[in-house]
Amino acid sequence: MSSPTSSPTTVITNIATLVTNDPSLGDGSPLGLIQDAAVVIDGDRIAWTGESSKAPATDNRVDAGGRAVIPGFVDSHSHLVFAGDRTQEFNARMSGRPYSAGGIRTTVAATRAASDEELERNLTRYLAEALRQGTTTFETKSGYGLTVEDESRALRIASRHTDEVTYMGAHIVSPDYADDPAAYVALVTGDMLNTCAPYARWIDVFCEKGAFDGDQARAILTAGKAAGLHPRIHANQLSYGPGVQLAVELDAASADHCTHLTDADVDALANSRTVATLLPGAEFSTRAEWPNARRLLDAGVTVALSTDCNPGSSFTSSVPFCIALAVRDMGMTPDEAVWSATAGGARALRREDIGRLTPGAYADLVLLDAPSHVHLAYRPGVPLVTGVWRRGRGLTS
Ligand code: NIG
Ligand code: FE
Repeated sequence: MSSPTSSPTTVITNIATLVTNDPSLGDGSPLGLIQDAAVVIDGDRIAWTGESSKAPATDNRVDAGGRAVIPGFVDSHSHLVFAGDRTQEFNARMSGRPYSAGGIRTTVAATRAASDEELERNLTRYLAEALRQGTTTFETKSGYGLTVEDESRALRIASRHTDEVTYMGAHIVSPDYADDPAAYVALVTGDMLNTCAPYARWIDVFCEKGAFDGDQARAILTAGKAAGLHPRIHANQLSYGPGVQLAVELDAASADHCTHLTDADVDALANSRTVATLLPGAEFSTRAEWPNARRLLDAGVTVALSTDCNPGSSFTSSVPFCIALAVRDMGMTPDEAVWSATAGGARALRREDIGRLTPGAYADLVLLDAPSHVHLAYRPGVPLVTGVWRRGRGLTS
């Protein structure tokens, strides 16, 4: 990877294709494509984008070498505070066993047994891995502790690395409460919420058979809202269910997975502010049916693409891999997939300062070793990310 350095003002020139995600720029498409472009970075922000020939002069020039520059990926859904892995479960699945939420218990046991240092070491390792692949913003969740102490330490650790922290004590009913799920919901909406809320921005719940039903999910998200957290939800992943409708009812920022949707679910999303976040790594790693991105896009739903990186259902930190899957198997065009992995992720986090390269936005950029963003899907599995700037700082690998 190249190792550009930061200075108060830097101009990146000789960009063959620049994805701005500002439709008022360039070709007027949602990606706001500018050919033969330049970007000026001032401190941690974008100061200017446009045609190279019109770029203001600055001392510090970086030559993109006729390659493409896109906004850094916004991975709005991951589960990165955990210990251990689930290789055996993956092996069994690839021999035909179906995925079930029960595997989460394996990771809960390993996570509870781990030290704070081990959890933080794991987290930073996966973050570095993601950053090398172009992820400049990530959301991450608790959900592998399921006690007041273990959930709050997961959030404390996560909050040292990102502002986008999600309290997910409602991942599954804790094994300690297997005989009394109602008591677990009371804990999640009571002591656990009060202890965790100061470290989190979001609250999430796994609304699914074997996890939490619609009424429990509503109670959990409503309590979270009352504590100042904003809702998002794991919805309609393994089966049809009430999750998507609940997301819309509560004005959740995002309904995540959206694999099994009725027409009414699609209509509800299309008439809401709730983003549908699709997570193709999960369908890939569980050999499940793909979510139908085309159906959602044609109905006017805003779609985000993220990794869902976790040791059970989707152990990938690679947004480029998810883009390739979404294009090949979910009916997205390369342009739509790149938009969803950048601007779409920003929408799913209700952020305006990331996911686009326009003056005032954070200078989070990715240089691809390719002439255009289309190559992310056209050249699957090839490590095309060759330079990353986060908050205006060039990063080395
Ligand atoms: O998003 N669906 C629930 N949670 C994760 C899986 C977690 C696990 O299997 O450990 C998901 O796919
Ligand atoms: Fe998830």
